[in-house]
Parts: sequence; C-alpha cells; structure tokens
Amino acid sequence: MKITSAEFVMSNSNVAQCPKDAIPEYAFIGRSNVGKSSLINMLTERKSLAKTSGRPGKTQLINHFKINNNWFLVDLPGYGYARVSKKDKKTFQKYITEYFQKRKQLVCGFVLVDIRHDPQTIDLDFMEWLGSNEIPFSIVFTKADKLKPGVIEKQAQSYLQKLLEGVWEEAPPHFITSSSNRMGREELLEYIDGINKE
Ligand code: GTP
Ligand code: MG
Repeated sequence: MKITSAEFVMSNSNVAQCPKDAIPEYAFIGRSNVGKSSLINMLTERKSLAKTSGRPGKTQLINHFKINNNWFLVDLPGYGYARVSKKDKKTFQKYITEYFQKRKQLVCGFVLVDIRHDPQTIDLDFMEWLGSNEIPFSIVFTKADKLKPGVIEKQAQSYLQKLLEGVWEEAPPHFITSSSNRMGREELLEYIDGINKE
C-alpha cells in the first residue's frame, strides 16, 4: 500500500473524545521505549509525525493519525517502566484498557516487543488480557537491526514457541520490523490493507 497522506488529528486522554469517524483503526501498544512512535514514523515515512525519545514515557496520550484519509494509526502510551509517578502510570493503564475495551473502530491491536528479549511477564499479561477481552492482535517484533541477520528469524520463532508453551494454543500473526532500516514495512502495510479491504 502506498501512503499518500498521513496527518496528526488529535491527542486526548479520554476514549469518548477520540475521533468519531467510522473508519478502521489500528493501535500500537507495548512497553515504553519499545518503538511504537518510531514505527508509526517509519510506516508513514514521516520523520517526526509521532514524537519519539530515547527516554521511556514519551507518549502520554492517545494519538490519532489519519492515513490516506480512510484509516487511523493510533499511538498509545507505553506500559512498563516509564519514568513517571505511580499515579500517572495508573492513569495510563486506565486509558489504555478503556481504549481497547471501548473503541469500536479498533480492528486490530499491534503488540510491540523488542526482538532481543524473551517474553516478559507484562507483555504476556497484556496479550492474555486482550485475548480474554476478545480483542484481535498481532505481534510486532521491533529493533531487528540490533540483531545479526542470521538470528532474527530464530529469535522470533523462539519467542512464539514460548507463547505456545503458555496459555496460547495458536500464535498470533507476527511481523519483524526495524524502524532504522525499514524492515517489515511492506508486510505490515499489506496486512493492514488486506484488512481494510475485507
Ligand atoms: P514511549 O512513547 O515512551 O512509550 O516509547 P515508544 O515505544 O514510542 O518508543 P520510541 O519510538 O519513542 O523509541 C524509543 C527509542 O528506541 C528511541 O531512541 C528510538 O530511536 C529507538 N528505536 C525505536 N525503534 C527502533 C528500531 O527499530 N531500531 C533501533 N535501533 N532503535 C529504535
Ligand atoms: Mg511513543
């Protein structure tokens, strides 16, 4: 899919105030610093459409970006180790969970995980929560440029294998990406395009 336009629409902390457009929506979620905002910039080929930072906790609101005038990409605050107060962290959790539970336009969540790491409890818990709420999701491995090409696929398969040893009977779709070298861009956009056309 070709990206012809990508515009920031709004940020907010309340799912009830998100855009009213009845168009498909895809949200990026995962630990702080995993690369959610960078992936939005990579996919849209806009350097600073979504704000990124080396410091965890950069994205603090629900951010809507309208793509090609007919679907949304949503950048969410990370969960996990953001350097913010406990109280703020709780607020993030609340709007993340509210967003996933209430946002009817959401077609698929993308749970981002750093490809260098084995499954972390917080990610497994979040995926389990999505599953128990019947919210479809895919896994996006990020920062693949940090691994040697020969071990990338192996590492992803080992991660998915560990999911199957847990509560999952079937692995969700997965994508291997790098915002540094654009790996996975076409695959992810084609996947979204396929769903948009359903
Ligand atoms: P929060 O908004 O804090 O939850 O973080 P985020 O998940 O949006 O992460 P962000 O995109 O801001 O990126 C965090 C850091 O990781 C930045 O320093 C990015 O440059 C770096 N980064 C993101 N994606 C990649 C990648 O694919 N490869 C490499 N090498 N670095 C990346
Ligand atoms: Mg961010």
